[in-house]
Amino acid sequence: MDRVGFAVVGAGVIGQVHAGNISMLESCRLVAVADQVRERAEMVGRQFGAKAYASIDEVVKDPDVEAVVVATPSYLHAPQTLYALQHGKHVLVEKPMATTLRGARLISETAKNAGLRLGVVFQERYLGAARRLKEVVSDGGLGRVYLIEAELKWWRGEADYYRSDEIARSWRGYWETEGGGVLMNQAIHTLDLVLWFGGDVEEVSGFISNASHPSIEVEDVATAAIRFRSGALGAISATVNTQPTNRQYRKIRVLGTRGFAEIHDLSLRIWTDDGEVQVDGSGIAFGELHRALLADFADCVKSGRKFPVDGVEGIKSLELIKAVYLSSERGVKVSLPLGWGDVPL
Ligand SMILES: NC(=O)c1ccc[n+]([C@@H]2O[C@H](COP(=O)([O-])OP(=O)(O)OC[C@H]3O[C@@H](n4cnc5c(N)ncnc54)[C@H](O)[C@@H]3O)[C@@H](O)[C@H]2O)c1
Repeated sequence: MDRVGFAVVGAGVIGQVHAGNISMLESCRLVAVADQVRERAEMVGRQFGAKAYASIDEVVKDPDVEAVVVATPSYLHAPQTLYALQHGKHVLVEKPMATTLRGARLISETAKNAGLRLGVVFQERYLGAARRLKEVVSDGGLGRVYLIEAELKWWRGEADYYRSDEIARSWRGYWETEGGGVLMNQAIHTLDLVLWFGGDVEEVSGFISNASHPSIEVEDVATAAIRFRSGALGAISATVNTQPTNRQYRKIRVLGTRGFAEIHDLSLRIWTDDGEVQVDGSGIAFGELHRALLADFADCVKSGRKFPVDGVEGIKSLELIKAVYLSSERGVKVSLPLGWGDVPL
């Protein structure tokens, strides 16, 4: 079988998950791993039988690499994606696809013009519960959707997350390098699903705050009120302050004129007059959904099929988050799409 040759750039927490998944997939081949810390690249390369590079420069020159997974700190996503695209490589980029809308729009356009696949790692699009709910909403099974609520109650500590090692200290928790806090890094997956179910947003009003992480600049709690183009309303709350930590959960509720659906963590329940539907996602291990996404991306590279979470899709949650930041900073309601005159983009 003709396997797609991949390189992973950034061999940290998630880069190692991608490297492992690529080597497990029949349709893929892990050609190289790159990290600015050469020993990390060598360690992961050895583990999976791949070449080790110390920078993306070596990756783009390697003719065996057809596709690059960008898994570096968030502020590097747009420049490294652009660089790889300019060298004719397909790119699967971690979320957020960029820390600026300008960067996101640039890489999306560049991929389109070059006829290359650009995918964004929103692995929850491959979650059975989310796919089932999307299907039910699209088929009108809930009637007309009038309200979507999303809550993310997680914990990320200063010692065990934001400042966990020298590299984490260098980028997590700063506007410039992480691009934002709980919304930009953790809740972005949930917002991507909210937008998948609810469609485009017309206007948003939001607040952000930092309640319990004095050593970071970015928000650790956020709320937003949304009006979708469809007329439906939305309510978002997200935090990484949850104590005690065994109270963490994520919920998305979709309310329609004929039914009520709730995703609780990775599982789904739907109640309508026709009865109850359940999709149990509780046994899904971290990394499995990333693997499903990767397999689909590899298939798109081989077949030329459009990848479902491309630049245009990937930008939507980023733009919503930017609008919440803008609304909170200015104390105003913000209309989407955001224009070039809006700051900070
Ligand atoms: N989709 C998901 O489930 C998921 C989960 C975790 C992280 N992420 C995203 O993945 C990205 C990385 O997060 P992480 O937790 O793995 O971070 P990390 O700090 O653990 O790893 C980042 C790695 O990139 C390397 N690096 C930094 N600059 C580099 C450069 N110029 N060239 C090559 N390598 C470089 C670092 O040395 C480090 O090994 C973030 O953007 C994060 O938002 C996504």
